[in-house]
Amino acid sequence: MTRRWVAERRAEHYYRMAKRMDYRSRAAFKLMQIDERFRIFRPGDKVLDLGAAPGGWLQVAVDLVEPGGTVVGIDLRPIKRVPGARTMKGDIRSPESLQRLRGMLDGRADVIISDMAPNISGAYSTDHARSVELCEHCLAAASSMLKQGGKMVMKVFQGDLMPGLIKQAEGAFDSVKIHSPDASRKTSSELYIIGEGFRGAEDAPEASDSSEGGPEFRRRGTLP
Ligand SMILES: C[S@@+](CC[C@H](N)C(=O)[O-])C[C@H]1O[C@@H](n2cnc3c(N)ncnc32)[C@H](O)[C@@H]1O
Repeated sequence: MTRRWVAERRAEHYYRMAKRMDYRSRAAFKLMQIDERFRIFRPGDKVLDLGAAPGGWLQVAVDLVEPGGTVVGIDLRPIKRVPGARTMKGDIRSPESLQRLRGMLDGRADVIISDMAPNISGAYSTDHARSVELCEHCLAAASSMLKQGGKMVMKVFQGDLMPGLIKQAEGAFDSVKIHSPDASRKTSSELYIIGEGFRGAEDAPEASDSSEGGPEFRRRGTLP
């Protein structure tokens, strides 16, 4: 029995379970496992999901913030309607998309989640660098859309730029942890960064500071 075979069986197990339970993606189980471990969501929370298509994480978030919660998602690709969630098609790197998102959120989020992945080029260092760049955009989005004390979950492909990214996250959150849920393929290089206790964007006015669209955290001096 090779490790690859075991990994494929595990992936297939989650894939079949997602089909059976009507989740849009196998990734839904990753978020459930992250929540089980870190208690990310509370009833009534406002959640922003970055890179939400096809909608598995949206389905899980809607369930976990009931009653009274709000879930908003964005993706480059269209998202088929998820009951209980509001979604838009857009690019989180674009200032126009961020502005629309802020309007849909109507106030800051308690939790921002991102399962975003770049288009895979096959060149590992390129894919890693693009994944880190997406994470930097998530941190920038947090500075204008996450509440003080809020939480963030974001996916990253491992690689040599990780220490710099972790340092940026540590500048923004009281606590930063790295986690690999069981539902992630064991052959995958993906990890999740869990940030808790958002320190807020003290120097940025609410809801208008990241209209440039670029990673704000570079400008806030949290890079090494
Ligand atoms: C792994 S999928 C997300 C799966 C989702 N969490 C689920 O459970 O259904 C990654 C998504 O990130 C999206 N994405 C990548 N770059 C993006 C960007 N700049 N803005 C918005 N979405 C992006 C991709 O289009 C893709 O749908």
